[in-house]
Amino acid sequence: MSATLTEPQPQGQTPARPGDRCCLVIFGASGDLTKRKLLPALYNLAKKELLPKEFALIGCAIQPFGEDEFRHQVRQDLMQFAGAPEDCKFCDWLIERLYYLPGDFKDPQYYQRLKPLLAQIDEKHGTQGNYFYYLATTPGLFGEVVKQLGGAGLAEESGGHWRRIVFEKPFGHDLDSARALNQEIKQILTEDQIYRIDHYLGKETVQNILVFRFSNGIFEPIWNRRYIDHVQITVGETLGVEQRGAYYDRAGALRDMVPNHILQLVTLTAMEPPVSFHAHAVRDEQAKILHAIQPYAPEDVLTRTVRGQYGEGVEDGKPAAAYRTEPNVATDSQTETFVALKLLIDNWRWADVPFYIRTGKRLAQRITEVVIQFRSAPFVLFRDTPVEKLGHNLLVMHIQPDEGISLKFGAKIPGPVVDIGSVKMEFHYRDYFGSEPSTGYERLLYDCMIGDATLFQRADMIEAGWSVVQPVLDVWKALPPRNFPNYASGSWGPKEGTDLLTRDGRQWKTGQ
Ligand code: BG6
Repeated sequence: MSATLTEPQPQGQTPARPGDRCCLVIFGASGDLTKRKLLPALYNLAKKELLPKEFALIGCAIQPFGEDEFRHQVRQDLMQFAGAPEDCKFCDWLIERLYYLPGDFKDPQYYQRLKPLLAQIDEKHGTQGNYFYYLATTPGLFGEVVKQLGGAGLAEESGGHWRRIVFEKPFGHDLDSARALNQEIKQILTEDQIYRIDHYLGKETVQNILVFRFSNGIFEPIWNRRYIDHVQITVGETLGVEQRGAYYDRAGALRDMVPNHILQLVTLTAMEPPVSFHAHAVRDEQAKILHAIQPYAPEDVLTRTVRGQYGEGVEDGKPAAAYRTEPNVATDSQTETFVALKLLIDNWRWADVPFYIRTGKRLAQRITEVVIQFRSAPFVLFRDTPVEKLGHNLLVMHIQPDEGISLKFGAKIPGPVVDIGSVKMEFHYRDYFGSEPSTGYERLLYDCMIGDATLFQRADMIEAGWSVVQPVLDVWKALPPRNFPNYASGSWGPKEGTDLLTRDGRQWKTGQ
């Protein structure tokens, strides 16, 4: 069964006005994030005329490239990662306003060279002193770069211009370090200048959770403990750690995915309606959910959390190596590549409704879904029907890769007896709105240029997210795992991940 559009929709509708005139300064311009995400996102924005005419870009990195060499590299990257054609007018446009400044970000002299370059760009491109710094560097440099920008007078907002700084994830590696970093950068910046990114919020389907919940009158009245049995969130990846072993082996799945991406999905699913879509209103409601998540006592960590590490297996029909044999990973690594948690939210809407979440590398399928399982209908009418045939109403928000929403319900199978079958009503984004190339960073970069921080994390949210996982980090550290690797590549994770639900008489719906 599928739904149809009641009214024709404009395809590819976009916000009308281009971003504010500005110069974007990318620290870490020679890295993977820049070529795979940021440049393609800028290219997609340029194509939609959402970049201001008065725009320039400075790439900052340690590599001693010449400007022409950097421009050539950017053109190649745009062709490879954004699918730009060779004779691409948008690439020409971007490259005309592209600069490169090599050097050491810890050296105060570097900023003394950046300053006149920015002034020269203001003059030439009319960027009027609006600077938007993107920290795509290793997280260890975040505080240092901010301090240096402050010292050089490049972070000050005065005379009508703005200065904004985007912090890539991870923001800290635990609660204490996140707090310390917040304190450090706030000595130089005000909260309004700080944009802590979580690229999940750039995904259309993640943003759609709010629109779906709050623009449809029919769901909100049943979006609570009276009607919902539990919520499941799965973020499955088929890839292993690839070339990121050095970072990942110190981080692990819990730090890498939970306090940020997964808690975004939890808060958007669970929050109360905000009074408006303004940044503070939305983030206030998200923060309340983070604070309402029941803190784990050490014994809860033993019963309500699961960790795993992938061993050898088969992925996409090909043999896949164990985590411990990946580049830059310790051969006796105790780092988890899978995590499953049962969270409880202590508020009036959600008390006693578990939120089960799981994520992992080298799982059976690349899929991100939020599943809402509703309570069963009373059985009285169907006493003779086996319980398993009655099924549950499931509302599934498919975040990726097949973006959409589906609703499963019971229907009578045609015939002389009352026999029930499960049917599904499905909405696929691509059927209605087509699919446009997007990295998820377009909206976030654009929002920085117009000064809208709704989709960015505030300091208190970051700290509240870390507070949720900190007890788990502590117990896991004190009790190293004894059974790693404990799941085969290409499976759905360790058996304990399944047991987490079966113990409660439930089962994972995604990928089963
Ligand atoms: C990143 C994590 O933040 O998100 C990666 O560091 C993970 O480990 C990635 O693979 C997942 O993002 P997406 O958009 O592919 O779901």
